[in-house]
Amino acid sequence: MNAKKESEDIVSGRRDFSERTERITESPIRRIARLLEEAGEKESIISFGGGAPSLAPPKDSMEHVAKKIKEESQKSVSYCSTPGSLKTRKAITKVIEKEEDVQVDPEKEITLTHGGTQGLYATLQTLLNPGQEVIVQDPEYVGYPETIKLAGGKLNRVKTTWEEDFQMTPEKVNEAITKDTEVVMIISPDNPTGRMLTDENLKGIVEIVEDEDLWLITDDIYKSIIYEDKEFTNSRHFGARENTVTCSSFSKTASIPGMRLGYTYGPKEVIKNMTRLLQYEALCIANPPQLFAQHFLREKGKYKRKYINETVVPTYKHRKDIMKEELEDKLPKAGFSEPSGAFYFFVDMNPYMEGFEDEEDLSTTLYEEEEVVVIPGGYFGNEGKNHVRFTFVSEPEERIREGITRISEFLKS
Ligand SMILES: Cc1ncc(COP(=O)(O)O)c(C=O)c1O
Repeated sequence: MNAKKESEDIVSGRRDFSERTERITESPIRRIARLLEEAGEKESIISFGGGAPSLAPPKDSMEHVAKKIKEESQKSVSYCSTPGSLKTRKAITKVIEKEEDVQVDPEKEITLTHGGTQGLYATLQTLLNPGQEVIVQDPEYVGYPETIKLAGGKLNRVKTTWEEDFQMTPEKVNEAITKDTEVVMIISPDNPTGRMLTDENLKGIVEIVEDEDLWLITDDIYKSIIYEDKEFTNSRHFGARENTVTCSSFSKTASIPGMRLGYTYGPKEVIKNMTRLLQYEALCIANPPQLFAQHFLREKGKYKRKYINETVVPTYKHRKDIMKEELEDKLPKAGFSEPSGAFYFFVDMNPYMEGFEDEEDLSTTLYEEEEVVVIPGGYFGNEGKNHVRFTFVSEPEERIREGITRISEFLKS
């Protein structure tokens, strides 16, 4: 580029950018974040859109952070080592050991990350080489495809439907494997469907990973938000410990998504490589979220369970029950399987699609005509056609009832 042309291009906003960033698309969820922001400001808008917890974080853990910042201001905002302070890592691994009966070496097998998002990003960057494939279920979390692409990987989607409770079975995984497959990604409870993998399917997938010598990435971000009598199973109980990397965060369970506190654990060689990457990508994570975690997880996890068991799970379970009742009552032809955890119903709207071009058209119309925000299922993969995702995390009972009533009255008319 000559200097004149370059300056013209800068003025006109036209530059050559890296192929890396040109290749990825803006997250559709970020696109509708504008609607959600509006929803937050405008009382009449009912949001079944975003996945951010609406509960206040535990008060005493927040007060602990404030106190520490006040009393030890310099130390509280200082750098720490790239994988995070050992004190925080020990607090987290102790809870994993206690609750999931899995040993993790706090010195070598875990690193803190900026939310689960950075954990997933860094894990894929660490494990994948260009052209290698990652098996994910379809529908899938909206964050996976572009993160896989950014790491040079290719998405290999395994179709699942609500009629089969969105189960990713070993048979389906086996069928999907090609010579380029490197990673299988699983998530339980899931976003956008709320389903949990059965132990049988989990065991079968772990065995395939072991037999084929693949990597298994488990996204455990919703592991503590489980309803009814279901229980979370750490996949390591079925094996493949040396092939498994887990990404998780406190965003949903401690209601602190903006603190950006996550962690990734796995074999020490993986964490060692990932830490090298994180040195240049982030240097280290902030201290205040770590102060939060140290308090939140204190007394061997006792407090954590109290907040989750007495506030988080009962609140969202109640909202889930209300949403289920309303969907069954007011949209009786819609198809869904009841979520076992997380915050979402992934609903097949096929019987209600007459007059709409597709699920995006349906969602836009519901927003414009009825001020109800739902997310088009197509954002979550090919199996999202004519589906929408309803979140029950952000609205209280009466507004859930009101929102579904508005949708059903509109669709009737
Ligand atoms: C399945 C799943 N994984 C990862 C994330 C990332 O969350 P965070 O970066 O806040 O931990 C989310 C957020 O909604 C999610 O739903």
